[in-house]
Amino acid sequence: MGSNPWTPDSWRAKNASQQPIWPDLVELERVHKYLTAVPPLVFAGEARSLTKALGAASQGKAFVLQAGDCAESFSDFSADSIRDKLKVILQMAVVLTYSSGVPVVKIGRIAGQFAKPRSLPTEEVDGATIEAFRGFIVNDEAPTAKARQPDPSRMITAYNQSASTLNLLRAFTKGGFADLAQVHTWNQLFVASSKEGRRYESIADEIDRALRFMRACGIDITTEESLHEVDFFTSHEALILPYEEALTRKDSLTDQYYDCSAHMLWCGERTRQLDGAHIEFLSGIKNPIGCKIGPNITSDELLSLCELLDPDRTPGRLTLISRMGASKIADVLPRLVKTTQDSGHPVLWVCDPMHGNTFLADNGRKTRHFDDIISEVDSFFSIHRKLGSWPGGIHIELTGVDVTECLGGTEEVLQDHLDLRYETACDPRLNAKQSLDLAFEVANLLRKGIRRTEVAR
Ligand code: PEP
Ligand code: CO
Repeated sequence: MGSNPWTPDSWRAKNASQQPIWPDLVELERVHKYLTAVPPLVFAGEARSLTKALGAASQGKAFVLQAGDCAESFSDFSADSIRDKLKVILQMAVVLTYSSGVPVVKIGRIAGQFAKPRSLPTEEVDGATIEAFRGFIVNDEAPTAKARQPDPSRMITAYNQSASTLNLLRAFTKGGFADLAQVHTWNQLFVASSKEGRRYESIADEIDRALRFMRACGIDITTEESLHEVDFFTSHEALILPYEEALTRKDSLTDQYYDCSAHMLWCGERTRQLDGAHIEFLSGIKNPIGCKIGPNITSDELLSLCELLDPDRTPGRLTLISRMGASKIADVLPRLVKTTQDSGHPVLWVCDPMHGNTFLADNGRKTRHFDDIISEVDSFFSIHRKLGSWPGGIHIELTGVDVTECLGGTEEVLQDHLDLRYETACDPRLNAKQSLDLAFEVANLLRKGIRRTEVAR
């Protein structure tokens, strides 16, 4: 924070990286004004509940599953795709909870995950230089100069799409779909026939049996809310600051500012400059905040980030999302975890095993290998265990359908398969089977650690 007091627009005095150059500033102003008046998407009280849940996770009492698209799309927008994503997240949560006995905090990269930071601002297409695709909230993915022109009115479309996505998520999670009695219906046909799908079915059978047992014992399970409803939170990268500023509102109960575009916002690896606009903005809103941490961060930088983003040391306020890459994590993460331990900051560590493991396949497609993803998660757990720190969660890019974007998995996706169903608007996502497979691996790691601490007691 600078010497001036924080306001929702105090970021404007700082350097904001990764912002599009909006060609029409009058239109930008009109859109901004419109968005300052629309209803909030989430309520401050919900964001506070998430901070509390993340606080429990930071103390080793819960595990975070943060998952969803790399970039939500304006074109692939339907009830089915939202439902299928939710299904796989609920399945993963069941696997994790059932196998480890640890409560799972469920957060979607959804209902607002539209903006993408890019390594280069432009790209070459057929000899012409055009602007890079920055996510549907900014421009269109088609490789033409016209489609790539930043258009502020897309922020309104993003808001509207977020509102209807959130509306459906609320209906699904509170209106019967997420009822534990539905645990079988989350297993989609194409998943059910796979090895992971069958493994999931046997857990679902056991849950059925447990519910029948409770009923037979005379327990009235109809009144037990937690068996029928799920708390599901939303999150996205707070990248396009005029949008985030416009949705920031003062909570009438506490007089504090919350960014009501999502429950949780995170700062990307490319925008976390200590003196930059993104950190300035995030430092003043009271939502739980995430910050991506890549392999080049120094211990001093990390400490300064903790001070700026969580000066009051509130458990659950700050989640550090480590995204090192399978080959680097062992060299870098232990020092960083020790730094936070020594400082006493009550941070929650979550592992993003996706973004440090991206490479170009022979056919030029961006991909990731399932084995690298597992390897990074595995190292993340063992580093934390060794240091007596809690491996607090995973942050994953996935989709509910049967895409072929990441390599590997038990029904192995090979380089030759990448062109079959490569549908992502940005980074390669795990398909539903690979996601479930990962959940089983993580459940195993969680269970092992818990057994170990139980034995030590
Ligand atoms: C992302 O989460 O999609 C992303 C771009 O991550 P990072 O900031 O870690 O590169
Ligand atoms: Co991504």
